[in-house]
Amino acid sequence: MNKKLDDCKKEILSDISRTISFRLCSIGVDLGLFEDLSINGPSSSEEIASRKKYNERYVREWLYGISKTGYIEFDRKTRKASINDQYSELFNSEGGKNSFKGFFKVINNMLLPYENLISSFKNGGGIKFEEYNSEFWKGLDLTGCSRYRSFLVPEWIDQVPNIKEKLDKGVKFADFGCGTGRSAVELAKRFKNSNFFGFDKFKPNIEEAKINAEAGDVTTNTSFQVWDVDNGGPDDKFDIAGAFDLIHDLPHPQDGINVIKNSLKPGGIFLLMDIKCTDDPIDNDDPMALFKFGASLHFCMTTSLAYEGIGLGTVGLPLKKVEELCFNAGFKNVKEIDINHPINSLFQIS
Ligand SMILES: C[S@@+](CC[C@H](N)C(=O)[O-])C[C@H]1O[C@@H](n2cnc3c(N)ncnc32)[C@H](O)[C@@H]1O
Repeated sequence: MNKKLDDCKKEILSDISRTISFRLCSIGVDLGLFEDLSINGPSSSEEIASRKKYNERYVREWLYGISKTGYIEFDRKTRKASINDQYSELFNSEGGKNSFKGFFKVINNMLLPYENLISSFKNGGGIKFEEYNSEFWKGLDLTGCSRYRSFLVPEWIDQVPNIKEKLDKGVKFADFGCGTGRSAVELAKRFKNSNFFGFDKFKPNIEEAKINAEAGDVTTNTSFQVWDVDNGGPDDKFDIAGAFDLIHDLPHPQDGINVIKNSLKPGGIFLLMDIKCTDDPIDNDDPMALFKFGASLHFCMTTSLAYEGIGLGTVGLPLKKVEELCFNAGFKNVKEIDINHPINSLFQIS
């Protein structure tokens, strides 16, 4: 790799500009500016500011800036900006396949405890859950909503051998590290004969999960409980256990998988959804690799280390590691399901 200095400079300057682009998008999402443009059509900064009751000078500067990203268009004559249907869907929709709102909230807010991260580099330790603001957790809720409503439940679950039949018939399903309950709620909506039990150690998530269950009209076949997997398993036994985006975050993933194994009835199935990655972290070269390492430093690895964990990190659970942990726990079969997704991997384990 022998690049000219000028080319290196161009690359870095482009990255700096795109960072600002990301930030302007986050402002547009958080303040409902994209939404306002989508609803009202071509608008000037005065019109947007008056509708949203924002300071016009700020809106104008944002409009000039965001028009340089190519995500909106600005008409020099009329001084009005407009957004097309594609960007409108990406910035404004919730729960769909093309909903990016949650991503902006997660990334923008996970970058905030910066001093704590710098201090962790120097002193070890990490950042605890409570140190992230509520908008970060709201972002995770939104990304979960899309993933489970638009991918796991309508598509991925049908690719797992024999599981749909069991869920249709009626089983007890434990969702470990359920977060705000989006996976349990979406599964409960589709599989009315099954009962879904969500466990998560972060109390605000469990409170949100109960609200999501009510909104999804599935309070009769879901329940949610504050539970720290590191303290052992619940008393109950389950036919199916799910761990969606949990294991790589756990301070002690082997203990977590042991708990999951012990919580299953004989012949039970463990459905593990985690982050798609390669055996050697440095081989992750896919378009989402940079994002995954960033998420690891700013949340996944760092929260695990905060609780004196091993810090597997976002790309710490490739197939080989899944097999090692699951075989250690006493499982006999690990089958990766081909879901062909840029971020997630899915395993059926028994
Ligand atoms: C990345 S989030 C995923 C949440 C949810 N499954 C989803 O996909 O939307 C990881 C979740 O694991 C929970 N968690 C982390 N360590 C845990 C532990 N020891 N016991 C139970 N839950 C834990 C966190 O509170 C968080 O809600």
